[in-house]
Amino acid sequence: MGFNLGILISGRGSNMLNIVNASQSGIINSKVKIVISNKINSQGIKKAKKKNIKTKIINQSLYKTKTNFEKVLNNSLIDENVNFICLAGFMSILSPYFLNLWSNKIINIHPSLLPDFKGKNAVKQALEKKVKTAGCTVHFVDEGVDTGKIIDQEKVTISNNDDEEMLAKKILKKEHVLYIKVLKELERKLL
Ligand code: GRF
Repeated sequence: MGFNLGILISGRGSNMLNIVNASQSGIINSKVKIVISNKINSQGIKKAKKKNIKTKIINQSLYKTKTNFEKVLNNSLIDENVNFICLAGFMSILSPYFLNLWSNKIINIHPSLLPDFKGKNAVKQALEKKVKTAGCTVHFVDEGVDTGKIIDQEKVTISNNDDEEMLAKKILKKEHVLYIKVLKELERKLL
């Protein structure tokens, strides 16, 4: 048994594609029911379509309030029988209204060893602080920005010559491994 996943994205969608691949090749039991982008120019939507995954663009900028947007988002997920949500580069803070509807059923991936370097530019923040180890975290989503309960993390050693792009690339590789590891763990624990 696996989850019926809804994946929310805003851009590139490499984590989304990685989850789709893991699902389609049977590495995880969960099925990706729909990929939704809140931005119109998301590269990830094209990638999901190529994999024959149902996609939807809900252009958040057209909605007067976040709740209006989230009502449409919620209905789109319910329509596809989604029962668990993965955020993967989704650039919108979900409101308490939406979080209450999906309590403990939303996870996110962030490119830092939380609780360090929350929010945007996490990789840049790590380099500026001159820490020796960076990494990524999968966590449950709560009302804060990258503050929810940590599920698992992967570390990445920072080399002296790493710039932001190089380090982000190294972290992204680990993100792809970590997200699948966590989904497998949650399939075992929650189902
Ligand atoms: C990843 O670095 C993820 O940790 C962060 O946003 C980025 C999304 O990349 N939340 P992608 O769209 O999955 O390629």
